[in-house]
Amino acid sequence: MTLKNDLYLRALRGETLERPPVWMMRQAGRYLPEFMALRKKYGFFTRCQTPELAAEITMQPLKRFPLDAAILFSDILVVPQAMGIDFKMKESVGPWLEIPIRTEKQIEEIRLPEVEISLDYVFRAIEITMEKLEKRVPLIGFAGSPWTIFCYCVEGKGSKTFDIAKSFCFGNPNLAKRLLQKITDTTINYLKAKVKSGVSAVQLFDSWGGLLSPEDYHEFSWPYIDQILEQLSPLTHTVVFGKGCWFALEKMAESKATALGIDWTINPELARTLTKNRKVLQGNFDPARLHSPPKVITKMVDEMIRRFGKDKYIVNLGHGILPNTPLKNATTFIEAVVNWRI
Ligand code: CP3
Repeated sequence: MTLKNDLYLRALRGETLERPPVWMMRQAGRYLPEFMALRKKYGFFTRCQTPELAAEITMQPLKRFPLDAAILFSDILVVPQAMGIDFKMKESVGPWLEIPIRTEKQIEEIRLPEVEISLDYVFRAIEITMEKLEKRVPLIGFAGSPWTIFCYCVEGKGSKTFDIAKSFCFGNPNLAKRLLQKITDTTINYLKAKVKSGVSAVQLFDSWGGLLSPEDYHEFSWPYIDQILEQLSPLTHTVVFGKGCWFALEKMAESKATALGIDWTINPELARTLTKNRKVLQGNFDPARLHSPPKVITKMVDEMIRRFGKDKYIVNLGHGILPNTPLKNATTFIEAVVNWRI
């Protein structure tokens, strides 16, 4: 498969480039008017579960901006859904589970799904998206980290602190680990099937890893991510994004991950030092900074690239783009990278 633009893959391979590649986490999202138009017509999981719609939404930001990668429109919660955990998306609440997972019986009853069957709509969405992309740029697949999925399953909804999930975990560590392992096994099968369907890389979102102390992170999050890396890294490029997890970068740099995603609470120099320049880094523009005047954005992007270095680097935000981001500023961010030269 020869891509017209393989900058993202060349950066992952650590090649010397003219400029780094750029994409944005949640690039298919609510800041796009064309996304809002489809959002009015279809519920969230209908958009995820209808391959034509998921493929169309994936393509929306690619039609507007000169991005170097596409990421499949989907959600991390399709994995627990396939395990029979009935997540809904509630308007102005977010992810919602009527009966959260908090007992041994519930955990024992969870069966590992045949992902090829229960998540078939994702693989079909990948196939349709690949056709629409016409080899323009690579397609990224993703999953939540087992810890982050565990947080939603036990809490039953979004939270800033996930106190219920953490308390359950520390009160019942062995039981918690049984659930974490079931999520891990399902995620491995799911990501393997995504690779088979054609994605060029997979990214794990550990959005809530940063809620754990470093010691707890290495007990309840990292070992499960590491299992996924062991299984997937021989098959494809793997990227781990750990929100607030800079304390784990040293350990992450010893893993099989191709690249590590970081947020804006760590500076480029420290991230390079902690990872001993062994890994490709991805990040880390504060999404709220897309509210700065365009001139400031361009200057900050230039500085960011110089500080990370143009190679072994993928420009991205430090977390998902905010819904109220002005389109002009998103354009400025991307064009600042595309036009960047040493
Ligand atoms: O990056 C991309 O463009 C790919 C699409 C993507 C979505 N969700 C689409 C989405 C990705 C990679 C995700 C991952 C995801 N989903 C994460 C990890 C990344 C992160 O942001 O930390 C998490 C924690 C979820 C669970 C989830 N799904 C939440 C917390 C929400 C927001 C709920 C809200 O009301 O704000 C969602 C919904 C969601 N997933 C939207 C999008 C574009 C909002 C869309 C909508 O409401 O129509």
